[in-house]
Amino acid sequence: MASTLDEGTTDTSWTLVVAMANNGVIGRGNTLPWHLRSDLQRFKQMTMGHCLLMGRKTYESIGRPLPGRQTIVLTRSMQDPEVPHLNLARQLDDVSALVQAGRKVMVVGGAELYRTALGRCQTIWLTRVLADIQGDTVFPELDWEAWDLQSAEEIDAGPQDDWQTRFEIWKRKSNIARVQQDP
Ligand SMILES: NC(=O)c1ccc[n+]([C@@H]2O[C@H](COP(=O)([O-])OP(=O)(O)OC[C@H]3O[C@@H](n4cnc5c(N)ncnc54)[C@H](OP(=O)(O)O)[C@@H]3O)[C@@H](O)[C@H]2O)c1
Repeated sequence: MASTLDEGTTDTSWTLVVAMANNGVIGRGNTLPWHLRSDLQRFKQMTMGHCLLMGRKTYESIGRPLPGRQTIVLTRSMQDPEVPHLNLARQLDDVSALVQAGRKVMVVGGAELYRTALGRCQTIWLTRVLADIQGDTVFPELDWEAWDLQSAEEIDAGPQDDWQTRFEIWKRKSNIARVQQDP
């Protein structure tokens, strides 16, 4: 199964995956406020075979489990539709027990889910959409000082992309690293 994640590791940490405009916007009218085919393709490649954890509103926006991946929806209200590879979690602490063997957890939004799950994430895959965009949903406040930028790749807008983007990978600084930096 194709993935750019390290294969065969025992890493159980969660990864947050988000596309965010310069002004922090991530959504509008319960959908994405842009068309970015190249980003969707990367999302598919990087999440394939793993487990997508999403909020109920984002799940309703997508409308179905994405193929080749397990989907866990965090919700207090949704009834279980008993669809293969779809699980419901009533609280964050229930998620780990639901994750199928060998799958990594990708926290894929929206804003409320990011706010809830950010503390459990060690990695952020951030697509910066290089524009200010109107919307009604923004990424939560984040102390970027607690994170290290590991890599950044500039991506020109392709024929089916509304905007130029930059794909960044951030890792949470370890407590040890922070202690060493503090005088
Ligand atoms: N740009 C991106 O990368 C990206 C990614 C994903 C989504 N989005 C956008 O973000 C927007 C949706 O975000 P949103 O913040 O409105 O909604 P959301 O986070 O997708 O879903 C919110 C719902 O999740 C459930 N939930 C959240 N925290 C919970 C908790 N601690 N325990 C139990 N259930 C919990 C609740 O469902 P119940 O009401 O059922 O209890 C809540 O109403 C859309 O516009 C979408 O397109 C953007």
